[in-house]
Amino acid sequence: MNLTLGNKIVLVGNGAVGSSYAYALLNQGLCDELIIIDVNEEKAKGDVMDLNHGIAYAPTAMTIRYGSYKDCKDAALVVICAGAAQKPGETRLDLVNKNVKIFKSIVESIMDSGFNGIFLVAANPVDILSYATWKFSGLPKERVIGSGTILDSARFRYLLGKEFDTAAVSVHGYIIGEHGDSQFPVWSFANIAGTPVAERLTEERKEEIAVQVRDAAYEIINAKGATYYGIAMGLVRITKAILRNENVVLPVGALLEGEYGHSDVFVGIPSLITRNGVKNIVELSLTEDEKRKFARSVQTLIDIQNSAL
Ligand code: NAD
Ligand code: LAC
Repeated sequence: MNLTLGNKIVLVGNGAVGSSYAYALLNQGLCDELIIIDVNEEKAKGDVMDLNHGIAYAPTAMTIRYGSYKDCKDAALVVICAGAAQKPGETRLDLVNKNVKIFKSIVESIMDSGFNGIFLVAANPVDILSYATWKFSGLPKERVIGSGTILDSARFRYLLGKEFDTAAVSVHGYIIGEHGDSQFPVWSFANIAGTPVAERLTEERKEEIAVQVRDAAYEIINAKGATYYGIAMGLVRITKAILRNENVVLPVGALLEGEYGHSDVFVGIPSLITRNGVKNIVELSLTEDEKRKFARSVQTLIDIQNSAL
């Protein structure tokens, strides 16, 4: 069966992350139709009204309405932001059992509609839930994309931008591995205009930056209860790459099948994104230390995956 084209998007989960994604989408005019689904129907309907009142000032016309899983039938993209979020002191992995259960029923309902598009998964633990979505949906691997380390990489670029007084868009670098505590920066590739940044930083400073990136979510959750604007921008960036067939490299959650010597796990890794989803995974030539860290991160995910699915 051919992939559903067009640009209809269904958003499942209209909490802090989902509603921020909807707002960012409206601001960037990327789709003609946005359908929102949430068990909290009243709040979602309120957001639909509120978003519709912004359309007069949006870059393009857009239909936004509350819907049901039947709407997934002809959707190009379903974005899942539903599920429990971390409370202060909890890790992303603490959410696994609750959210795998929620995902089973959501993904089955979506597939029952006849959905034949691309999944974009944001709920945590995102790597495990991307794997669960792939398993529960039966779709080809390229059609399930996790937000992976898109947000962590943005945090990394922001901090390096501040460090070197350069716009984050001109800082290139990736955080890879779990979207969680075992992630790490690929220092050997971090650069500004092709000039490596690692050699301009002490080991101590590099470690501080890596820890700041890794722990950013804890800091924000302690301060305001949740993180949502950063991830919303990351999700819209992935949405744009898909709908506009950009063929661009983004650090997303993709299924490894032998790349980097690992298989059967979704993990944050630079990947080429097109209208068909993940075209391929970019194989960076990692240093021995980076290979070790990556293997440790992958193993953390596989252990959780094996116990939760
Ligand atoms: P939230 O509690 O504000 O929103 C969750 C929403 O899911 C709620 O509106 C709830 O009603 C809805 N929901 C729950 N069960 C549902 C179901 N069965 N069907 C439909 N809707 C359902 O939480 P949030 O802050 O928006 O976070 C959502 C998820 O995103 C969490 O798992 C969080 O950890 C994750 N998150 C991921 C990233 C990332 O980088 N990938 C960043 C931030 C948050
Ligand atoms: C983040 C979420 C909590 O902001 O995963 O990293």
